[in-house]
Amino acid sequence: MSMDGVLRLYFGESNLPTPDYIKRAAAEAMNAGYTFYTENAGLPSLRRALAAYYRRLHGVELDPESEIVITASGVQALNVSIRSVLDAGDEALVLTPAWPNGSSIIAMSNAVARQVPHPLCGDRYRIDFEALEAALTPQTRLLVYTSPSNPLGWVASEEEQAQLLDFCRRFGLWLLADEVYDRLYYAGESLGIPVPSILRKASRDDAVIVVQSFSKAWCMTGWRVGWLVARGDLGRKAAQLNEFIISHAPSFAQKAAETALTEGEEELLRMLARLKENRDLCLDALAQMPRVTVPEPDGAFYLFPKIEGLTDSFAFCRRLLEQTRVGLAPGVAFGAGGEGSVRICYAAERTILEPALERLARFLK
Ligand SMILES: Cc1ncc(COP(=O)(O)O)c(C=O)c1O
Repeated sequence: MSMDGVLRLYFGESNLPTPDYIKRAAAEAMNAGYTFYTENAGLPSLRRALAAYYRRLHGVELDPESEIVITASGVQALNVSIRSVLDAGDEALVLTPAWPNGSSIIAMSNAVARQVPHPLCGDRYRIDFEALEAALTPQTRLLVYTSPSNPLGWVASEEEQAQLLDFCRRFGLWLLADEVYDRLYYAGESLGIPVPSILRKASRDDAVIVVQSFSKAWCMTGWRVGWLVARGDLGRKAAQLNEFIISHAPSFAQKAAETALTEGEEELLRMLARLKENRDLCLDALAQMPRVTVPEPDGAFYLFPKIEGLTDSFAFCRRLLEQTRVGLAPGVAFGAGGEGSVRICYAAERTILEPALERLARFLK
């Protein structure tokens, strides 16, 4: 991070600033007195706005009193969810390659993360249900998956969602779906249509948790506001647990997030058009590079090219950085199945992407 002149594609956020209408909403909220504590579960008005958002986008009815909890970011939603479900000595299945925080939070709960890699079959990642079943033990309580995936960009099909739900019902597990990239979806009928949430398939009684965030779709990474949706019993416990971790997300940031939900669609569409162009530009460039295979991802803003013969992605990324000043994330950081690949975040300007891809191509040659 301290090196000058680096073309940075290793990060996990768009380099677009938070849109002005959200910043204005935060300033107005501060002036209107949103500077005091809120409920542990978050502002009731934001929870109601989220219930309306799910009704509009997914046709799902949620109880804002018990089934929605506002958190101080997606990572805190992940933390409070995992801590609500796992006791010390419990085990969780985690589909990988994945953003490492899920497995780390499981470890911090003195529980065990059993990573099960997504196999690449032809041009699509899949879920290996046999491997999932083989990894079960009497201590297994939870299955964690991310769709759209960081780092793969893979999106679970509706059939795969149904199978995951069925698997968890059969073995009495909680199913935790990290859906923080659900709005960054390029394979819907039109841009702006989200990936169908697992909540469309789950019943109110299912042991399902969805982790969400304002960070990615609304360019609010530094604001630290997210939410979780869960069965009412877990939702109530998660709100109580919030008290001892962070109490609640900042009041004015919650109020600004409410505005993002209700007024953000136009800005989001502009960003999605730009991201899709970037994705295609990168896919075209990678297709010309020797020893590189990369499945076309349907979501998020990452590509995860596999490089033939690569056995130490950390050393590769270090050499690439030192010799060409291009910063990528090593695949090994994303757990089982990640070694041999690198992660490229394409939520950057073309003036960064184009020279970075040229340098990567030259480096590989
Ligand atoms: C898969 C995934 N889940 C959750 C998060 C958490 O985002 P935040 O804590 O900024 O809401 C991230 C951030 O990179 C992520 O990639």
